[in-house]
Amino acid sequence: MGSAKPTQLEILKILKENEGSFVSGVGLAEKLGISRPGVWKHINRLKEMGYEIQSQSRLGYRLVAVPDSLAHEEIVPNLKTQWLAHSYHYLRTIGSTNDHALLLAVEGAPHGTLVVAEEQTKGRGRLRREWISYPNRGIYLSILLRNPLPVRVAPQSAYIGSLALVKMLHEEFGITASIKWPNDVLINGRKAAGILTETQSDQDFSRFSVMGIGINVNHSREEMAGPFRYPATSIAIEVGFAVKRQRVLLQFLSQFERDYDHFLQKGLSVMIPEFEAHSEVLGKIITVVCGDREIMGKAQGFTPEGALLLLREDGLQETVWAGDVSHVEGAV
Ligand code: BTN
Repeated sequence: MGSAKPTQLEILKILKENEGSFVSGVGLAEKLGISRPGVWKHINRLKEMGYEIQSQSRLGYRLVAVPDSLAHEEIVPNLKTQWLAHSYHYLRTIGSTNDHALLLAVEGAPHGTLVVAEEQTKGRGRLRREWISYPNRGIYLSILLRNPLPVRVAPQSAYIGSLALVKMLHEEFGITASIKWPNDVLINGRKAAGILTETQSDQDFSRFSVMGIGINVNHSREEMAGPFRYPATSIAIEVGFAVKRQRVLLQFLSQFERDYDHFLQKGLSVMIPEFEAHSEVLGKIITVVCGDREIMGKAQGFTPEGALLLLREDGLQETVWAGDVSHVEGAV
């Protein structure tokens, strides 16, 4: 797979407009001002990219199926967003989409720039962990956010990412997912997505943030049995069939844009009830690792800024600003 050239995009457009019917090779050649062998060459390239195109002498070409690629041509024309992902960077393979987005940010890429890859070779998770990124299975993306926000507030976009994903999974796929504070998305108690937000700030305000999210979409049980710190799953495992990553990506982007705009207008505090409604940990006994401390207690709620309120075993309440929930009572 890879991005299509302009003539190939034109051919695709015509084939899609005539979905289900044959389009003559002569007609295509005339419309595009190229030779018939030229058409044939481009059709072959499209086939290599995963498009299923039937060729029949005298009838021409018919588009039978499109690949589940996240390439520009399959996503950008279908975007329903106002500002998100209009600057769209698609990569077949990359070290880390976050690293690439950080680079683009420094070069002046606009607010809402999206970097998405079919594969990452150096995917990064929180706390310097590795994010295993199997090719063509998951969605590995990073969003560049340029609103200057107080340094304490900027990382809160990660909360918006997990909330948006949980809401979208429910609306689009009927999946009940939950948020394991601070921003892992779980399905049936297993991790299906993780978020890594990285912010560059001046003294008081952020210059930009990159919100990176990895979503396990079509991973098999064997792939998800791998060496993960927390039990892992994928959307396909949970629903029992492969899902179109294109649909997951497009719907996620629409939901994220809505929720992020809401967050900018009203702040995170008004979204905390929603966050609590989808929380995996609320009311449960959990263990949180904070640096070299391990705190056990009951998750009582969240502050307006998204910090965790933990009632410790000694009866004192602690506000935990950052950490990693390593165990949830009754977890798989
Ligand atoms: C975590 O759960 O620890 C966070 C995982 C974040 C992974 C995503 S995949 C896309 C983006 N690029 C990266 O290198 N990391 C994030």
